[in-house]
Amino acid sequence: MLRRASDTGPPSGRCMKWLLALAVLAATQRAAAATLTRGPYLQLRTTHSVTVIWDMDAPARCGLALHLPDGATTVLGGGTAAVCEIRVESLSPGRSYGYTPLAGNVPLRPESVFRTDDPRVPFTFLVVGDTGSGSPNQNAVRDLMLATPADFLLHVGDVVYDFGFDTEFFVPYRDLLPRLPLWPTVGNHDVSAAGGVPWSGFFVTPANNPAGVPNYYSFDAGNAHVAVIDSNLSTSPGSPQYTFLDNDLAASTALWKFVAFHHSIYSSGTVHGSNLPVRANLVPLLDKHAVDLVFMGHEHNYERTQPLRANQVVAPGTGTVYVTSGGGGHDLYPLRTSSFTAYA
Ligand SMILES: [Fe+2]
Repeated sequence: MLRRASDTGPPSGRCMKWLLALAVLAATQRAAAATLTRGPYLQLRTTHSVTVIWDMDAPARCGLALHLPDGATTVLGGGTAAVCEIRVESLSPGRSYGYTPLAGNVPLRPESVFRTDDPRVPFTFLVVGDTGSGSPNQNAVRDLMLATPADFLLHVGDVVYDFGFDTEFFVPYRDLLPRLPLWPTVGNHDVSAAGGVPWSGFFVTPANNPAGVPNYYSFDAGNAHVAVIDSNLSTSPGSPQYTFLDNDLAASTALWKFVAFHHSIYSSGTVHGSNLPVRANLVPLLDKHAVDLVFMGHEHNYERTQPLRANQVVAPGTGTVYVTSGGGGHDLYPLRTSSFTAYA
C-alpha cells in the first residue's frame, strides 16, 4: 500500500524516495566495504580446528564463509572489529575446506583452502627462519615455498627486522599464508622490535605452558610432537621454560619428537656460530628425551648435523639431528664445516 502510494505521488516525491533509498543502500555498502589489509593467515591448526585471522582498514562485522567438503557452505560470525580472529572447530581430520573472509556479507578476497591435520598419513612441512628483508632473496625463497606442497610452515624466528611486519612478512607471504598454517618462533630481532609486542600481537600460539605465555608452546602435527622454545629467555635447568620442555617432551607419546628455537646451537657459521650456553643447557634434555630433530635459525645459512648425543657424533637413529635453516631472506653468511656437519 505504501509502495503503491509512493509510486503514484508527484514526481518530486518519488525522486526523493529513490534518492533516500539509494543513500541508504550506499551507506550500507560503505559500512560493509572494508578493505583487506593483512592476511588472511592460519594459526593453531589441529585435526579438528584452525584459527583464521585478517585485518581490515576499518571495523566491520567479521564473518567467515566455510566451504565444507560435502559442497555445503556455512557462515561463521564474529563481532565487529578491524582485526578479525575466527576459530573454526568441529572439522574432520585430513579434509580440505574452502574459506572466504567476509566484512559483513561482502567477500574480501577469493576463496582460499586449508587442510586439517591427519595423524594417519605422511605429512610435509617447511622450516624457514630469518626471513624478514622484503628483498629479492626473501621473495626467491618464498617462491620455492609456494611451489612446494606442504602441510604447515614452521618459522624459526626473526620474522621482522627493520621495516615492519607488513613489508617483511605479510606482503611477501600474502599468497602463502592463506593456505599454509604457520607456527611461529620468537627470534632476537622479533623481541628487539618493541619488546616483542608486535610478534605477540600478530601471532596466536597455544601458550600451553604453566605461565600461559605465548613465547613457548607445543603442538602435534601428523605423528610428530613439536615443542617451540624462546631462546631469548632463560633455558637454564630449573627455569620455567626448561621445566616446561622437560615435562612436555616426557608427556608426548608421538613417534617423532621435534624441538624448535631461534639461536643455533650447532652451527659452523662465521657470524654467530654455535650458541654454547644454550647448547650446554638443552643438549642433556634433548638427549634425555631422544629428540629426533631440532630446528634453529639465526645463522643465515643452512646446515644439518650428523646425529649427535652428548656432543658426540653417533650412529644414525641413536642421536639428535640439528638443522639450522636461517637462509630465509637475508644475504647469506659465510659457512665452514665442523666435525658435526653432515651437510652445509
Ligand atoms: Fe637472529
